[in-house]
Amino acid sequence: MERVRLSFELNGQQQTLSIENDTPLLWVLRDVLGMNGTKFGCGIGLCGACTVHLDGEAVRSCSLPINAVANRSVTTIEGLSPGSDHPLQVAWIAENVPQCGYCQSGQIMSAAALLANNPAPSDADINTAMSGNLCRCGTYGRIRSAIKRAAVDIWQPEQEQS
Ligand code: FES
Ligand code: FES
Repeated sequence: MERVRLSFELNGQQQTLSIENDTPLLWVLRDVLGMNGTKFGCGIGLCGACTVHLDGEAVRSCSLPINAVANRSVTTIEGLSPGSDHPLQVAWIAENVPQCGYCQSGQIMSAAALLANNPAPSDADINTAMSGNLCRCGTYGRIRSAIKRAAVDIWQPEQEQS
């Protein structure tokens, strides 16, 4: 354990901290920076509640030491879309996905990383991308529907232009 000074980009804004280098990113987000949209679930990388993007890839922030994000770019649910109108957020509302809501920011961040790399995912692609995100309320069917709805919203404008 060593105290370090490091910088990273969070939702488009530069952050510079003096902090112990093995502090999990999730702790930094919630306890240091007051970003509470990212949730603590299991704390050991098994549930996906803490999912954020690191340079565009979905990662578990509970299991990522802060020194691993130095000079890199982190996006949380708060930064996914300035107006909270990412196609997934729109689709999530349209499909009434959340029940208790606890897992949902992590679900959306995993889905957003999927659609950024694959705007027309198959069922198998969705299963693979979302398999690490657990939902105690069993909203999996509505999550799948919302991802497909968002994929159509992303995909169709591109098709219409071609
Ligand atoms: S809290 Fe990070 S994977 Fe469960
Ligand atoms: S909506 Fe309750 S845990 Fe997923």
